Amino acid sequence: MNPLIHSLHPYPFQKLAELIEGLTPNPEKPLIKLTIGEPQHDAPAIVLETLAKSLGGVSKYPSTKGELPLRDAISKWAKRRFHLEKLDPDTEILPVTGTREALFAITQTLVGEKQNSLVVSPNPFYQIYEGAGILAGAELHFLPCGAETNYKVDYQLVDDATWQRCEVLFVCSPNNPSGSITTLEEYAYLIEKAKTFNFTIVADECYSEIYFGSQAPLGLLEACEILGHKDYKHCLIFQSLSKRSNLPGLRSGFVAGDASILKPFLLYRTYQGCAMPIHHQDASVAAWNDEEHVIKNREIYTRKFDSVLEILSPVMPISKPEAGFYLWPKLSMTDEEFCTSLYQEESVLVLPGSYLGREVEGTNPGSHHVRMALVAEESECVEAAKRIRDFLSRR
Ligand SMILES: Cc1ncc(COP(=O)(O)O)c(C=O)c1O
Repeated sequence: MNPLIHSLHPYPFQKLAELIEGLTPNPEKPLIKLTIGEPQHDAPAIVLETLAKSLGGVSKYPSTKGELPLRDAISKWAKRRFHLEKLDPDTEILPVTGTREALFAITQTLVGEKQNSLVVSPNPFYQIYEGAGILAGAELHFLPCGAETNYKVDYQLVDDATWQRCEVLFVCSPNNPSGSITTLEEYAYLIEKAKTFNFTIVADECYSEIYFGSQAPLGLLEACEILGHKDYKHCLIFQSLSKRSNLPGLRSGFVAGDASILKPFLLYRTYQGCAMPIHHQDASVAAWNDEEHVIKNREIYTRKFDSVLEILSPVMPISKPEAGFYLWPKLSMTDEEFCTSLYQEESVLVLPGSYLGREVEGTNPGSHHVRMALVAEESECVEAAKRIRDFLSRR
């Protein structure tokens, strides 16, 4: 067996299951889980109708590159959303079956050219970045983005020796778990470093459509456009319908950007065998073409965050994230203690923040935080918030 398999870490939810094993939630209160970032709002009717009509697609092998109508719909959406002059559906876009597999696969495609390759990731982070780097044979290098730096990575602190070894830089913007957004200045800096040191910026943007107010988060290709970096060299974005359109089970997203990377990535994907079924492609076209359901979705999240924050802000330091659907409060007790006591007293389950981070030089930037996903119906999120308020008020 590949010995690197043994270096993979257990997933955060497995650690959580072990943490609460043998503990009993309060039997008088039904359990509310704020742990998994799985959208619970309704899937758009137009997508479900299209899916049902296209079921005949199961009798065909789909191509890895995807049908032109899908790549066309994606191109039009991305151009509208990120104010791009051009995004070639033939060379600058590939459909993927969710960003998870694509983030993993791109790392296998990109790592291997340099000596002592590094995969550079924010910390805390989406655990696929780490597993992808490990299995590609790279070393992980974590950049802290905890409370001390206002939940941002300070890229100026990364030395050139690190950039020299870097092959993949993961940027998660909007960030899971903190919701922070990478700015134009940060992207300008990173693009220059990527050009100088020849690495790829992999921008995981799967939360980009969940935001509050009228200002949509900046995307990496949008930054390229503004900066006149028209060929998107060294830059890739990863987009998904999972959060934007409440379709986590459709397994549909795309990668777009540097055509010189997407060509060998397509070859890699042909062997990996992860083409999107034709009926999922048709349903995805319907989803990318419709913005109304996305606007409604944001309104539901906005109402939910407002209601929950009104209840929680008097008892804990908490604020609306810039984007995304997580709350990421700092705690005055350890995250595991908060999690287990809340579970036992109030039957509310949250994810300890230290499970989303790694300890580097004695510090885990996720510790003393918990992640709460506000994905359930508003009434359930409000009930959870009231129980957390009561829990904290007793302390
Ligand atoms: C930061 C981040 N990236 C990627 C994904 C994967 O999303 P999907 O594979 O559904 O597109 C998730 C899912 O929760 C996530 O939180």
